[in-house]
Amino acid sequence: MTTRRTLVVGNWKMHGSRARNAELLAAILAAAPGAAELAVCAPFPYLADAAAALSGSALALGAQDCSAHAEGAYTGEVSAAMLAEIGCRYVIVGHSERRAQHGESDGLVAQKAQAALAHGLTPIVCVGETLLQREHGQTGAVVGRQLAAVIGQLGERIGAIVLAYEPVWAIGTGRTASPQQAQEVHALLRAQLQAAMGTAAAQVRILYGGSVKPDNAATLFAQPDIDGGLIGGASLKAADFVAIARAAT
Ligand code: 13P
Repeated sequence: MTTRRTLVVGNWKMHGSRARNAELLAAILAAAPGAAELAVCAPFPYLADAAAALSGSALALGAQDCSAHAEGAYTGEVSAAMLAEIGCRYVIVGHSERRAQHGESDGLVAQKAQAALAHGLTPIVCVGETLLQREHGQTGAVVGRQLAAVIGQLGERIGAIVLAYEPVWAIGTGRTASPQQAQEVHALLRAQLQAAMGTAAAQVRILYGGSVKPDNAATLFAQPDIDGGLIGGASLKAADFVAIARAAT
């Protein structure tokens, strides 16, 4: 039986300020529906503030990246243990912006996912194809390769991740994947998880990300293998984020 609870995660990316974050979180907390599980992933410097603002609430906190290393001489990096200590439950790993702008390989992303799990965080592992790859019919192969690296690294623990399908061409472009396009890829990912871990794959949440807005969220979330969303731009507006959260209930 499937018991996946819808999860809606805001990825603030490199936006915000102490004042704007406080306002945004207060507005979300005041209006967020109880039924869906919600989280926000804030920039590193604001995590402690956000943890305090969210303490005792049902809104969970996440970070946007972590180091693959436990500790050591890695200037500028932040470990999963530090994120856990500060109050994070989630950490995004392998976002396409990090893969593209910071040269993160499938292998590194898999190691980051492992580091996150080792410190009690739930990694939100992002996979997705570029427009060129889609046009060349490579979508399945690309996301399959990205997920295979994580399965190879985690083995049976793969069931502890949250997976996010974020087609690169739909991120920040206003061009969302159609519910059918997204569902098709989610079903492929679910089948790959099933091949790796059997029927327990039915419990793994697979989020969709890429121009999710209040007006398209409900039809996306209604797809059988879409278990919530990873929200960029719309997560910076309380009314939009809350409306998307409502669409998930
Ligand atoms: P947008 O919702 O702004 O398209 O961003 C999606 C995303 O990258 C979330 O991680």
